Amino acid sequence: MGGRGAIVAAGLATAAVAPARGRDLAAQTSPGPIGVAWEDGRIVAIGPPEDLPWAPTLGTPEAGLLAPGFVDAHTHLPFVGWRADEYEARLAGATYRDQHGGEGGIFRSARMLREADDEEVLAFSLVLAREMLASGTTALELKTGYGLSVDQELRQARLARALAARAPQICTVTLLAAHAVPSGMTRAGWVERACEELVPAAAAEGLCDQVDVYVEDIAFDLDDLERIAAAASAAGLPLRVHAEQLGASGAAEAAARLGARSADHLNRCPPAGVAALGAAPRTAAVLLPTSSRFLGLAPAPATALRDAGAVLALATDCNPGTSPVTSMPEVIQTACADYRLTPAEALSAATANPAWVLGLEGDLGRLAPGLRADVLLLDVPTLAHVPYRPGRNPVSAVVVAGEVLIG
Ligand code: NIG
Ligand code: FE
Repeated sequence: MGGRGAIVAAGLATAAVAPARGRDLAAQTSPGPIGVAWEDGRIVAIGPPEDLPWAPTLGTPEAGLLAPGFVDAHTHLPFVGWRADEYEARLAGATYRDQHGGEGGIFRSARMLREADDEEVLAFSLVLAREMLASGTTALELKTGYGLSVDQELRQARLARALAARAPQICTVTLLAAHAVPSGMTRAGWVERACEELVPAAAAEGLCDQVDVYVEDIAFDLDDLERIAAAASAAGLPLRVHAEQLGASGAAEAAARLGARSADHLNRCPPAGVAALGAAPRTAAVLLPTSSRFLGLAPAPATALRDAGAVLALATDCNPGTSPVTSMPEVIQTACADYRLTPAEALSAATANPAWVLGLEGDLGRLAPGLRADVLLLDVPTLAHVPYRPGRNPVSAVVVAGEVLIG
């Protein structure tokens, strides 16, 4: 069959453009019966089943909705080990900030990573990547940030590349060069090592596609961000920023000014940050509603960002501290309930826009001829049923680059 296939359903939903912002944000639903045909991993035709170049072997014209595979543009895989006891302690009154000190929080995940061998980390992370696949994620970002030394950060980046080779999805790697100040070092000391050694070494070895910085009063400040942005730019790597999560810092405005690909979290984003992201040509607002819910944080100003014209993306933030979540449908459910996005807006924010954040929009994130055949069959009568039924996985078939992996 030469890698040919086709799938059919009662309807199809996709963003028309990437990035989708302003009037283009909401995904369009085309009524069916409608199918998608692919050859050698790429979409070759979309239309009524009788017009497809070959007969569909998946789906039925009577039910379901075809959609692009979900793109999770912010995860902290690979990691190893959970921190459920920290969640339990927060429910009894502890705070994330308090847990960050000493041996807890990010430092604890760094210790678990250091003490595990490579195979343990990969096996643990691969289970999570497969969970993601089962809920429709066909492309995702991996991050470092639990290394907290030049050697361990480079090791985590190599592990990320190794995970990418084993995972069924396409994966990019982001070097989270400044996540927490390693114990025994000053902030300035680490930023210097990150700029002088880590970023150039990771770039020289081809270990990462983007560079990220956690701007927060418990982590790094705007001057540190500027320095690392310069090092990333010198290495030819785009910037990402963890911005305004626990407190307002001006990081969203800085991310827009520096031409970062994204400012992520944004729970405390002030109006100036909303305006800056609304006008930014290159900087998306990546929203992480399950991590907000899990930490008990007030939602990010999602509708204000949308109304300002920002490119909205949704992601799991999958990590053991603030969002042990692998499911993009769960993120969409939370985004609609807590952030008040519509189902059609949430779909674009879970597909075309995160593809743009990762620089993959020419390749995936929408259903259109020429793009990779990353196609989901959603077992729903309308798109609204995805957020309407929290806790239910609506994904009944998953095609990645023309390979039927579930279905
Ligand atoms: O995106 N906020 C900083 N980093 C992660 C959490 C990391 C952790 O707690 O292990 C986040 O929420
Ligand atoms: Fe994060």
